[in-house]
This record gives sequence, C-alpha cells and structure tokens, in this order.
Amino acid sequence: MSLLRTDGLTKEFGGLVAVDEVSFEVESGETRAVIGPNGAGKSTLINCITGMLEPTRGTVEFDGEDITHLSPHESVQRGISKSFQTASIFPEMTVEENVTIAALAAEHGSFQFNFLKKLGGFDEVHDTAARMLDAVELSGVADEEAGSLPYGDKRRLEIAIALAADPEMLFMDEPTAGMSPDETEATVELIEQLQDELGLTILIVEHDMEVIFRIADRILVLNRGEVIADGTPDEVQGSDAVQDAYLGGVEL
Ligand SMILES: Nc1ncnc2c1ncn2[C@@H]1O[C@H](COP(=O)(O)OP(=O)(O)OP(=O)(O)O)[C@@H](O)[C@H]1O
Ligand SMILES: [Mg+2]
Repeated sequence: MSLLRTDGLTKEFGGLVAVDEVSFEVESGETRAVIGPNGAGKSTLINCITGMLEPTRGTVEFDGEDITHLSPHESVQRGISKSFQTASIFPEMTVEENVTIAALAAEHGSFQFNFLKKLGGFDEVHDTAARMLDAVELSGVADEEAGSLPYGDKRRLEIAIALAADPEMLFMDEPTAGMSPDETEATVELIEQLQDELGLTILIVEHDMEVIFRIADRILVLNRGEVIADGTPDEVQGSDAVQDAYLGGVEL
C-alpha cells in the first residue's frame, strides 16, 4: 500500500503554474527521488506536501488520510518531517540542545500531556536526542555550539533535527548541496543507514545523479511543474522525455 499519494496536486503563483497536476505515490519504506531542471517545481512540490505551502488544487493523502490542508506542525504530528536548510539550527545552542528541542517540540505537540506524563517524557526526549546524534555521528560534538560546526556537520545536524520528531517519512531538499565530496559521501552513507536500519520512507530532491542512482528506488521527474517520467532509475534514464528535458545544457 502506498504511504503517500498526491492526486492532481497543483500550485500556482499568480500566473505561473509551479506544480502542475502532479499525481504520484510513495510506497512505505521506499526512497523516492524527485529530479528535474532548475525551477521545475521540486521544492514547491515538497512544500505543498509538508504543509509549508497551501496547494491551489489537488489532494495529498498520507497513511490513508487526507492531509492536504494541514499546517507543517500538524504534518509533523502525522509522521511527516522535513529537513530544512541551516535556518532551523539555533547557532548559539549546543548540538545536543538543538536536537532535544526538536524532540521536545514534536512530543509536546503530539499529546495532551498531564504534568506527570510530561516529566516522564523528558527522559525519553533526551534518549531520542542521543540516539539521533549517534545516527548522524555527531555524538562527539554534542556539547559544542551548533554554529561552530563545519558546513557538512551542520547539514547532518539538520537531518538529526528532522529525525528527532520520529517521523515515518522524511523529506530532504538537496541535502548534499554545497558539500565537499567527503561530506557528500558521509551524507549518502547516513541516508543508506536510515533506509536499512530505520526502514524510513524517504523523499529526496537531489541534483547529484550519482547520489540519486545509488539510493533511489524510484524517481519522479518534473519539468516546468509537470511529471514527465516516473519509474525505476533505469526506466527514467531511458526515457525520451527526460533526455529532451535535459538537452540544452540544463544541469541535472
Ligand atoms: N514563493 C514563490 N513565489 C513565486 N514564485 C515562486 C515561489 N516559489 C517558487 N516559485 C517559482 O516556481 C517555480 C518552481 O520553483 P521551485 O523552487 O519549486 O523549483 P525547483 O525545482 O525546486 O528548482 P531548484 O532546482 O532551482 O531548486 C519557479 O519558476 C520559481 O521561480
Ligand atoms: Mg528547489
């Protein structure tokens, strides 16, 4: 059964149709890549699914429920989490505090706690934070100021922050952008670990085709807001529409 399904999802900005009648599905446990030239609508699609943007038309179903009009916070409580750009990090707090706050925010929002439950939940929150830091291999710098981390570590911290909400599905928008080859390799290994050990369902937007072909089970290709291909890496690579969309030196 598919975990996520969009039907005719559309987002218009004035006269511009950024996402145009996009219908696709993500199976539970799979890694779905979304690719396409610059401006194809990839980020807008993610933002419409995760509640950051209100779609103009169409629906989003998650786990059999309509989540089209939920806020980002409500989406997190349903099990959807997005790894944001560095903006989600509090630079003056420690690495651990950053993850703890994210875990606490997710916990706090999801239950109508009584006071005792809240106290009991606090240890759990610390445990979650420690596990997530371990997963992204940042335990060694847990007590350092987040703002002082190298770029690649900051990006992995964002992933830990997203994971702290204990999501069923993780969204990532260009997680390796701006990374060195070593940092990219560490991030890809982290994603593989999330796939294998947590069985997480992942939707990833990524320009690096080597990364995509390594981790994606299926690829959705957008061009000018429209789906031009949807299939396995081999199917997509052989698609004429995809070849055409990338002619003219448009970077993939
Ligand atoms: N808030 C906005 N207001 C108006 N237009 C927008 C807005 N956000 C995106 N757009 C436009 O929508 C289209 C799709 O943009 P989007 O950022 O989703 O593309 P993308 O595929 O993520 O591109 P990139 O690969 O460069 O990140 C573009 O033409 C963009 O200029
Ligand atoms: Mg984008």
